[in-house]
Amino acid sequence: MILTLAWTPEGVRFIDQTKLPLEESYVLATTYEQVADIIVTMVVRGAPAIGVSAAYGIALGAIHTTAVTPQLFAPEFDHICARLAATRPTAVNLFWAIRRMRRRFEEISGRPIPLIKQALIDEALDIHAEDIATNRAMGLNGAPLMPASGGVLTHCNAGALATAGYGTALGVIRAAVEAGKQIHVFADETRPFLQGSRLTAWELMKDNIPVTLISDNMAGAIMAQGKIQAVIVGADRIAANGDTANKIGTYSVAILAREHGIPMYVAAPFSTVDLETADGSGIPIEQRASTEVTHLAGKQIAPTGCLVENPAFDVTPARYIRAIITERGVATAPFNESLQKLATGTAALV
Ligand code: MRU
Repeated sequence: MILTLAWTPEGVRFIDQTKLPLEESYVLATTYEQVADIIVTMVVRGAPAIGVSAAYGIALGAIHTTAVTPQLFAPEFDHICARLAATRPTAVNLFWAIRRMRRRFEEISGRPIPLIKQALIDEALDIHAEDIATNRAMGLNGAPLMPASGGVLTHCNAGALATAGYGTALGVIRAAVEAGKQIHVFADETRPFLQGSRLTAWELMKDNIPVTLISDNMAGAIMAQGKIQAVIVGADRIAANGDTANKIGTYSVAILAREHGIPMYVAAPFSTVDLETADGSGIPIEQRASTEVTHLAGKQIAPTGCLVENPAFDVTPARYIRAIITERGVATAPFNESLQKLATGTAALV
């Protein structure tokens, strides 16, 4: 399995996703500040992977503290959490993971510092291990929704590289393939950061899952040719009504899918569901540097001084989504009710 990140005695080891697919190299973070930089520069990216990274960042911050009592460590802990929370605003898994680490810290804050350090490392390791198990469960829940044979289009990278392993949208595809389905993946290249061409194509080829790369503006034509039987994407944040923030371009894919009568699925761990945000209008959208649009592989491809917009995510209204696949079960419209049921554990697993 592709190792997106790993806790080692020296620090946290990340595969450098900015170097893929040409170079398989690794970066070691030994401080929480380095983890924060690694998230901002997208050496690691993808909502669940960002959450796991932040948890490890907090663990690193804890092991390096010189504070000798929990009371002295508490303000430093707050500072570490705030630094990591300020990295990327859209993926709610980041805030979920930080909240979980904070809860653990509060539970044990009366104990000696060495014990607190170990407890925070253990919590981060648990978050990491749970993410892989969650993806496997999501895969089992989602595989029956995939066509027995045919084309499945995905946007961005919601694979092993975007998680602790196996993936969300690509996890569902992997599970469907493992169940004997004949799936051919069409991967949008995903301008401007090219997660589709650089990462999705790379990891599917490594797993021998058939994949064809298309540029984003080919999706409509490929759908019109009847080559796509389903669309599946990941998510960075799902509001209570099912509106879903995901990589910029997902909204356009959703509209194209609707026009062609193709079901569109979202696969995400329940930690991506943000029941405190009523609908998509409340989801903060990260704006990234204009150079991601004006430059390609370091080469300028737009006039100097050209005005640029670079929102990293868009929101797909819930009405375009056939189902949201989670490890707890599959939610369908009305999502306000179905997500709430999954939250309280009152939904039957589909
Ligand atoms: O900017 P990125 O690469 O972090 O965006 C990633 C996505 O949009 C993914 O689809 C999403 O995080 C789900 S990953 C399982």
